Amino acid sequence: MTDKTGVLFVCLGNICRSPLAEGIFLHQAREQGLLDLLHVDSCGTGDWHVGSPADPRSIDIARRHGIELPSRARQLDQAQDFERFRWIIAMDRSNRANLLRAGASSHAVHLMMAFSADYADTPEEAPDVPDPYYGGPEGFEEVYAMLTVACDGLLIRIRDGI
Ligand code: 4NP
Repeated sequence: MTDKTGVLFVCLGNICRSPLAEGIFLHQAREQGLLDLLHVDSCGTGDWHVGSPADPRSIDIARRHGIELPSRARQLDQAQDFERFRWIIAMDRSNRANLLRAGASSHAVHLMMAFSADYADTPEEAPDVPDPYYGGPEGFEEVYAMLTVACDGLLIRIRDGI
């Protein structure tokens, strides 16, 4: 495992955005034959949903695109995650602030949407991936579309460095 490149997707609850990012990224990596080179996981900075499957609305939108979401929510493990994961991908600025406060290296932490080609040159202008938890299903459509674009860019970036 240690020779694999670690990629950790992080949101607040680990039931909506980061499990979806994890599933999309794994799907893309599998399609490109890169799965064996990667160690991919997701977590939340909060602990409310630990042990729960992904939100049914995330499972549903993923499944409609042929992607299964097997993840169970877990909380960030400061002791181990910052050692294990070279790439720590925050869904929004609040998640990023929590990660940095917990001791993550600013070198490892990135905003998810910074990997969209639109923000390749201006990563600090990248938008947050909005929290869809309290909204309707259209929020999950928007999040899915955003994550697909960003995962694509992230995989290219990592692939070129592997
Ligand atoms: P996530 O969404 O961070 O994308 O998993 C949320 C899920 C649950 C809560 C907040 C955000 N919550 O407050 O329980």
